Amino acid sequence: MAEHIVQMLSEEEVDDRIRELGAQISADYAGKTLHMICVLKGGSFYLCELAKRITVPVTLDFMSVSSYGGGTKTSGVVRIVKDLDQSLEGKDVLLVEDIVDSGRTLSYLMPLLKDRGPASLKLTTLLDKPDRRETDVKVDYTGFVIPDKFVVGYGLDYDQKYRNLPYIGVVEFS
Ligand code: IMP
Ligand code: MG
Repeated sequence: MAEHIVQMLSEEEVDDRIRELGAQISADYAGKTLHMICVLKGGSFYLCELAKRITVPVTLDFMSVSSYGGGTKTSGVVRIVKDLDQSLEGKDVLLVEDIVDSGRTLSYLMPLLKDRGPASLKLTTLLDKPDRRETDVKVDYTGFVIPDKFVVGYGLDYDQKYRNLPYIGVVEFS
């Protein structure tokens, strides 16, 4: 089946929203240093664009996780494939995600990070699909709430493809 991508959010809409969030986060963290953690690979494009719009001092770290179990649903049991390089002790931490879907990954990850003793821990996601939520996840800064469609672009992939699209699109098959 041939697949094609239908645009859901334009490059300009995404960039404008990230700029707004950058301003809001900069105001909320005034006088502090923000330690941004990116969950690879999906969160990487959002992290870079958001970090560029933040005016308080920023430090960055990366982690990579994979969920156990096959299929299209995340099992909620997460394996850390690449852990953070730096300690979170005493830092104001912002976890940067591409999308919150079932919420299972974050329900596992947030308490794990909290246990590492940050001064504060917040979560931002570029996209939120609340219709699919199975666990309670508190998102502090949301880019866009979207309907239950499989989306790609801006770091999000279908079969590892389309991460580099500068907009958010829906994968359709014909
Ligand atoms: P969950 O919230 O634990 O179900 O899983 C979230 C992860 O599943 C995200 O970090 C993405 O990697 C992936 N994911 C969920 N929905 C989509 C989508 O629409 N497109 C691409 N990846 C998705
Ligand atoms: Mg992800």
